[in-house]
Amino acid sequence: MTTTKDPSPVSGTIGPESIGELRSLTLSGLKAVVGRLPASLQHVAKYQFGWTDEKGRPTQGFPGKLVRPALALLCARAAGGRAEAAVPAAVAVELVHNFSVLHDDVMDGDVMRRHRRTVWAAFGTGNAVLLGDALLALAFQTVSNLGRASATVLSDALLDMVHGQAMDLALEKDTTPTLSKSLITAAGKTGALLRSACRLGALIVGADETRAALFGEFGEHLGLAFQLTDDVLGIWGDPQTTGKPVHSDLQSRKKSLPVLAALASGTPASERLALLYGRDTALPFGPDEYVELAALIEEAGGRSWTERRAHQAYADALAALEHARPEPRAAADLLALADALIHRNH
Ligand code: IPE
Ligand code: IPE
Ligand code: MG
Ligand code: MG
Repeated sequence: MTTTKDPSPVSGTIGPESIGELRSLTLSGLKAVVGRLPASLQHVAKYQFGWTDEKGRPTQGFPGKLVRPALALLCARAAGGRAEAAVPAAVAVELVHNFSVLHDDVMDGDVMRRHRRTVWAAFGTGNAVLLGDALLALAFQTVSNLGRASATVLSDALLDMVHGQAMDLALEKDTTPTLSKSLITAAGKTGALLRSACRLGALIVGADETRAALFGEFGEHLGLAFQLTDDVLGIWGDPQTTGKPVHSDLQSRKKSLPVLAALASGTPASERLALLYGRDTALPFGPDEYVELAALIEEAGGRSWTERRAHQAYADALAALEHARPEPRAAADLLALADALIHRNH
């Protein structure tokens, strides 16, 4: 993982240049759908997607990496179809993703995302919750045109995601956390939606269930790798590059993989870590303590363990992709995107 800074607005993009056109396809689809929102929430939605600033003025903001739509469109191509056919799936998964982060930032108490204030911090918690609700409704309207099987793929992913989010919260206070609980959490939080993106992309262009499920497996493993990378960035990332706060996971006592792997190491560093981490959240850590915590987790092997586990998930993803017999050109783009996701710094 590099720590190179790239504060330009295009720092949001990720993956090979060849998929730039897929971002345009997704953005046009999203703009059309967001136009259907009630007027009371349009300005909040445009802010969330990075199209306007807090005052409603057009901006060259940070739209998010659009990873999930890129996966849906590329999997459609990889299954032998046209990306254009999968635009509704791409739009739907990006809507669900934005729903999830709107609510997640309220739950995590985070005030920064995509290099700007989170919606709840800028427009209030009520607006963040309501916009999340509205985006979810739009997502299901969008997939309902694709048929019942597609709607089920998306609703199954949503249920797994909320389960992962509930486990994430429960783990904060869990006195018997385990690596396996943390892995299930990461897979639910993020693996499930990436699975649905890939599976929907393939299904829409007529792949049979078995082949679509293999594309889904690719997405699920990649999603786990993606979340583990996110957990590493949450402790050692540079907020100038990620656009998100660093150390907020530590303050909330998140039991992410790096922390749990470190706690399980049975080293002197893990003993000191357990002592500090057990402290009441009412007493916030100071800047020196965050530095010490991050150093202890690293010294106890939590960072390297997580990076190794992320690489294993990435290898599992590639194996599933190979089984899905992807079209070669789209496969090359998927591999380049997957590689960028695991080596990302934002
Ligand atoms: C952030 O996802 C939330 C996670 C599931 C880790 P992304 O890193 O894809 O967020 P954006 O859309 O690019 O901001
Ligand atoms: C986000 O998890 C997962 C979902 C939104 C479903 P995190 O809370 O770990 O992600 P960030 O770091 O806030 O984006
Ligand atoms: Mg969060
Ligand atoms: Mg969270």
